[in-house]
Amino acid sequence: MENEIVLPKHVGIIMDGNGRWAKKRGLKRSFGHKAGAKNLESLLKHIFKRGIPYVSVYAFSTENFNRDEEEVNYLMDLFVKYFNKKKSVFIKNGIRVIVSGSRENLREDVIDGIKNLEDCTKEFTHFTFNICLNYGGRMEIVDAIKKISQKIHNNELKLDDVNEELVSHYMYKDLPDLDFVIRTSGEQRISNFMLWQSSYAEYYFPDVLFPDFNEKEFDKSLEIYNKRNRRFGGV
Ligand code: IPE
Ligand code: IPE
Ligand code: MG
Repeated sequence: MENEIVLPKHVGIIMDGNGRWAKKRGLKRSFGHKAGAKNLESLLKHIFKRGIPYVSVYAFSTENFNRDEEEVNYLMDLFVKYFNKKKSVFIKNGIRVIVSGSRENLREDVIDGIKNLEDCTKEFTHFTFNICLNYGGRMEIVDAIKKISQKIHNNELKLDDVNEELVSHYMYKDLPDLDFVIRTSGEQRISNFMLWQSSYAEYYFPDVLFPDFNEKEFDKSLEIYNKRNRRFGGV
């Protein structure tokens, strides 16, 4: 890749297509999730190595609780295993891990895993890995409205203080806006992913299932991002 490449500061990945990846091979959906988690390990390392400081991934939406209990349980087990297995790698590489989403309906062991990982990595500042788990973009905005309203009610905030910057601070995590959102698998929708943070993001929908979305595919995406003309309402 050429040297003058412009790097997005914050990349979002909607990791879609695990089930179809497994189905194509005559396997159960869980094999696709396992392959997706494995792919994320090398992909994340690559993205941070490229020098991108913020990465957000969509791991489980609030709507994903509509799936079979067996699949939901498999995914929750996978998250707990992933948190434990990767903890030392995150620490070794100075990666701050944060988890955006509601803690409601989550199993105790998942909540404990999240707390532990967030706690062990909270001092790191160079790289931030944000995992959207039990996450819904509209719910995040509703939760922010509730928190702000409560402060106004308690006279800790004035109505006139409410502006875009302030609202950003009341999202689950204080993150910069997304520059680039990739959704794998060819689906062209955002399925409730980081609605507030993506208002001016560039979108890309590669026709590749997430377990196959490797380093090379990511670099291809970066080249596409670089061809975009971001105008932010200007000319
Ligand atoms: C994405 O893959 C992973 C999660 C939503 C947890 P899917 O499980 O949605 O895979 P497809 O879309 O059915 O292929
Ligand atoms: C979005 O994928 C959520 C995640 C990737 C975690 P889904 O597969 O759940 O989305 P829909 O149902 O196709 O919109
Ligand atoms: Mg899907």
